[in-house]
Amino acid sequence: MISRSFCLRIWTGWLGCFCLGAWAAQIPRTVPINDVEESVPPYSLPEVLTLRNGQRVTSAQQWPQRRAELVHLFEDHVYGRIPSGLPRQPGWVVETRRDALGGKAIRQRIQIPLTRGPHPILLDLLVYRPSQATKPVPIFLGLNFDGNHTVTPETDVPLARGWVANRPRSGVTNHVANEASRGTDAEAWPIARILERGYGLATAYYGDAEADFDGGWKQGLRGAVAPQGADHHFEPGDWGSIAAWSWALSRALDQLSLDPAIDGQKVALLGHSRLGKTALWAGARDPRFALVIANESGEGGAALARRFFGETTLRINTSFPHWFNGRFKDYNHRIADLPVDQHELAALIAPRPLYIASAEQDRWADPKGEYLGGWHASEVYRLLGKEGLPGPDLPAVNRSVGESVGYHIRSGPHALTEVDWEFYLKFADRHLR
Ligand code: GCU
Repeated sequence: MISRSFCLRIWTGWLGCFCLGAWAAQIPRTVPINDVEESVPPYSLPEVLTLRNGQRVTSAQQWPQRRAELVHLFEDHVYGRIPSGLPRQPGWVVETRRDALGGKAIRQRIQIPLTRGPHPILLDLLVYRPSQATKPVPIFLGLNFDGNHTVTPETDVPLARGWVANRPRSGVTNHVANEASRGTDAEAWPIARILERGYGLATAYYGDAEADFDGGWKQGLRGAVAPQGADHHFEPGDWGSIAAWSWALSRALDQLSLDPAIDGQKVALLGHSRLGKTALWAGARDPRFALVIANESGEGGAALARRFFGETTLRINTSFPHWFNGRFKDYNHRIADLPVDQHELAALIAPRPLYIASAEQDRWADPKGEYLGGWHASEVYRLLGKEGLPGPDLPAVNRSVGESVGYHIRSGPHALTEVDWEFYLKFADRHLR
């Protein structure tokens, strides 16, 4: 039985840091949440090293079997199955500038067709690499939230073409990108610093693949390849938009691997928030990603779903029903029955380096749940001969811990910042150099 005081604490917790996140996500106020650590009820996680038939996985040789099983479980119950037979087509370079960023960068704009036919869905990939490089460079790849034109103040990067989210601070109110939004996300993408450290950076707007609203699929990738187009009816196991965005990331990786100036074996995938969830699922599905970074990925990302703190499965499925598959909604009121939990998603990156990060004020994402996602995944890293996170306790703020699984909790709010990037660059130096 849940006590009365427990319920009260849950409800008063609502008034805290959650207000902003919940308001932004337009969540119905009738759905309970908790932000009091002492009120987290006990939970038990599915064992990452036990096969569905009950057999224990005790050697590295057995891991691929469990890994395949987990990928299927996440497809069937969470993110949805990507249809087979989707095209993997090379893109074309639209523009190369050898004098970008005051001569520090070679910048290319590349269009990658995600569908067939004369009017394919196009992913615009913006690629920077250090102009001084003498050998193929390792590169960070990440989707951005508001269009390639927002990651840089450069005026010759075209505005995002399709639907964009409204951002009142840059005057985007009718879902059309404008000049006022140029460069508004540049702080999250310290391009000059990344290049100075010897890495390239590639980014694309996630909305190129599919607009981020319920029904956005009709004009997006999922609608374009559905047999009935916009009249298509999705089955419970079919893909949601996180899976669609993750597919686009793999096509971007195909493209980067074709460039002799880029080291295709050293592509570090990074995503923030919903795009951190996407990065984890892309990295889990596609073992060619050499390193994966999930910045404040929260519920549906690195945070344990069974831990009742911050956003819950019911909340995320109510606010963002299009992100996951239909079957995931079956677990809204019975999360203990979900055959997987998010530590198993993190474990699918093993033995490749994985970095999970949180922010102290980002309680909606459940920093401790994100850390524990990495900690419980560390069991698999150890089986595969790597060191994961050092222990079950959340480390002090602004300190990076862990070996092949890295983690930090930054002071401040939900964001991708230069401080986070400094930790990521050091982690990448350790693993990709
Ligand atoms: C909302 C959502 C989160 C998500 C975040 C984001 O807050 O509830 O799950 O991570 O948006 O992507 O910004």
